[in-house]
Amino acid sequence: MPDASAGRPADERETSRGATDGLPPPVERGGPPASNASAPTPPPPASGTATEFVDAYLASKSELFRGSREVLRESFVPARLPHREEQTRLVAEILAPALHGDLPSNLLIYGKIGTGKTAVVAQVRQEIQRRGELAAQITFVTVNCGTIDTPYSLLQTIGNSFAAAEADRIPTGWALDRVELAMRRLMDVRGGTVVLVLDEVDRLVARSGDGVLYSLSQLNTELERARIALVGISNDLKFTNGLDARVRSRLNEEKILFPPYNALQLQDILRDRAQMAFRENVLDAGVVERCAAYAALENGDARRALALLRLSAEMAERDRAKRITQDHVIKAKNRLEQDLILECCRTLPQHCKVLLYAILLAYEKRRTSVLTGEVYESYSKLIVRLGLQPLHARSISNHISELESLGLVRATIVSKGRGGRSREILLDVPLHETLPALEDDPFLRPIARPRMRNQTLLTNFDNPARSLQ
Ligand SMILES: Nc1ncnc2c1ncn2[C@@H]1O[C@H](COP(=O)(O)OP(=O)(O)O)[C@@H](O)[C@H]1O
Ligand SMILES: [Mg+2]
Repeated sequence: MPDASAGRPADERETSRGATDGLPPPVERGGPPASNASAPTPPPPASGTATEFVDAYLASKSELFRGSREVLRESFVPARLPHREEQTRLVAEILAPALHGDLPSNLLIYGKIGTGKTAVVAQVRQEIQRRGELAAQITFVTVNCGTIDTPYSLLQTIGNSFAAAEADRIPTGWALDRVELAMRRLMDVRGGTVVLVLDEVDRLVARSGDGVLYSLSQLNTELERARIALVGISNDLKFTNGLDARVRSRLNEEKILFPPYNALQLQDILRDRAQMAFRENVLDAGVVERCAAYAALENGDARRALALLRLSAEMAERDRAKRITQDHVIKAKNRLEQDLILECCRTLPQHCKVLLYAILLAYEKRRTSVLTGEVYESYSKLIVRLGLQPLHARSISNHISELESLGLVRATIVSKGRGGRSREILLDVPLHETLPALEDDPFLRPIARPRMRNQTLLTNFDNPARSLQ
């Protein structure tokens, strides 16, 4: 079930990098919680895998890449995280006592997107899990709350990551109390120390409130054989402000801020990756600097910097160029804006995705702003066709706020006469690009309209739909 890495290729290992590049071997981000709960140290890169063969083929054909291009992907966690030494030390100091059977303090990590929070925690986790015997009593569970819709699915996902057999798994349709009890039982059967990493926890709280955090933060009073430490990761710096005071004080036992990277720091990060990814002398002077400068303007986001470098290389390949130039970076920057929107849609949790789909369909029909009530009705019908229960209207209102905070829609309150108020939703993404992309999504495909013949993905961002607002 949902995890930061769900949906990505299972084997993202960099297998063809030579031993001569002088850089330490990469570590990988953990897999889905259901399978990684007790995962030991990841296996060494297997030889003879399909990944290796495909990479080798691509490398032999590429003038630019020397091995796998996965090195530049977001999911790849390098062994070295420049400018995060202090944060890595702090996280390790807080979690490592688990190796001696001590319960780590709860920890809250916060910082803007792309500041290395997920990467640092993934790295410390892997370091701890490498310590064989000592680590045997520690179970890490990492859940990406950004892709979890409800407290129910959070507790279910956590519980099921401890299920040894199919029969132990928590189904859908129980009362929440019963799910929590089942989750606790499953944890107690395993026993030992559980380190529960709630990545993007701010998004779950924005959607469903902090009730579930309250339950999780008092689990130790109810668990019998297991003990739990929480690691919350938030992209929202003000996350704790809105929390219930008890939840805040429990979650806040330790707190680490990840500041944004500046342009020079981003250059260091990019140079490391570029050295792993590219052949000698394929980067023009100024390419790394320009990628870093753009990303520094975008809140110092390392993810954005890496995506720019990767896309610049792809632009260069498309031009059949022998070198990557600053012009490629400029082209890449324009493309990235489109890609980010589509990526954002693809990684929405299920109910959010259906909601956005309902908004897009209404928009396509009406070509003008839509009202919440209408969208709720359409969403409910669609979700039932997918075999799921519709969420309550209030919850949907929070989901709309989330779509708004992601920059996909804008919602304004309109007065409906006789004191009634409703929210009017305006689309903030290009309709004709986003709609087919969502319809291609495996989750939505069963309810997607049949694709018309000759229907193509329009890539024009200045689509008239945008100016209808
Ligand atoms: N200091 C760093 N050195 C190398 N790569 C980094 C560093 N910080 C972040 N990254 C990379 O940038 C991307 C985004 O980092 P991530 O940990 O996902 O950020 P966050 O969780 O704060 O949004 C990942 O691909 C990660 O490997
Ligand atoms: Mg993250």
